[in-house]
Amino acid sequence: MFSKIVATGSYLPEKILTNDDLAKFVDTSDEWIRTRSGIQSRRIAADNEETSDLAVNAGRRALDAAGLTAADIDLIVVATTTPDMIFPSTACIVQDKLGASNAAAFDIQAVCSGFVYALSIVDKMVASGQHKNALVIGAEIYSRILNWKDRATCVLFGDGAGAVVLTASQTPGILATRLHADGSRRAILNVPGHVRGGQVWGDPYVHMDGPAVFKMAVQVMADVCNETLAMANMTAADIDWLVPHQANVRIIDATGKRLGIAQEKTIVTVQGQGNTSAASIPLALDTAVRDGRIKPGQVVQTVGVGGGFTWGSALIRW
Ligand code: UT7
Repeated sequence: MFSKIVATGSYLPEKILTNDDLAKFVDTSDEWIRTRSGIQSRRIAADNEETSDLAVNAGRRALDAAGLTAADIDLIVVATTTPDMIFPSTACIVQDKLGASNAAAFDIQAVCSGFVYALSIVDKMVASGQHKNALVIGAEIYSRILNWKDRATCVLFGDGAGAVVLTASQTPGILATRLHADGSRRAILNVPGHVRGGQVWGDPYVHMDGPAVFKMAVQVMADVCNETLAMANMTAADIDWLVPHQANVRIIDATGKRLGIAQEKTIVTVQGQGNTSAASIPLALDTAVRDGRIKPGQVVQTVGVGGGFTWGSALIRW
């Protein structure tokens, strides 16, 4: 038994925040943000939207595309760093809002690698025969953990959600996955704040040593892609589409170059979304499936990297 992605869905909040909008309240410019990151605009969740709402909207669209109902789903896994609350998990809230009463539900916390971590875990749970139809969602509202006075971070992130339906299959869909972590590098990207005794202790905003994260990301992304390719007895020449974590076009370009994958074979959505952390890969997958670039039978390489430090790759036969 194997697992296979049979449908995708995504959701972006309505409000668009452009680089020029940002330059009105923080010392930055459209030119700086575009040349350093490739980002032009990002979406911002409405005050009455929670991460679970974004996840539910993306999940519903994936279910519709799969021709399934919420009752058909027996597992929901949400990758998020910005959960609705400390507990219960956002996945449990999504289960209730979707009405997926037959589903087990839990969250994965691996920051920007969260979707690849979730996909890898759920692949094993479905391939074992224990679960038949799983909804794997990446959903984030980073706008609520950004310090809007810190130009080094607030210009880079955005809100959104993406989802895939993973079903049991006689033919392999997820060909290989590989996950890594290096907790000793946690200082270069974190939100150190936490709740203690009814109060927030420490700074509850994103902190990032941008150049250190950049260097690390470029080093590890191509390496882990090569690991999954080797596991599947493939080479970069077999890849139809590279779908990397969407943080920065310079990181994406450098990864493609190191792998030897042409720019035309790389899906890039960061321009209009910014870095949506665990949501970025399923958002990019859904974009490329719906615009007809990713087609059945093709080989898709996803690769994530983020706080922890964590990184991982999933090689997929569509
Ligand atoms: O999901 C993973 C999470 N994060 C990432 O993948 C991000 C990885 N890192 C990056 O993408 C890049 O390092 C950044 C886009 C964050 C920054 O680009 P950089 O080329 O590494 O710039 P820098 O941090 O070295 O900063 C260059 C200059 C500094 O000024 P000085 O010291 O040279 O005078 C910064 O203060 O740019 C300044 N700067 C800004 N200027 C205008 C930093 N942020 C801004 C800003 N607008 N928003």
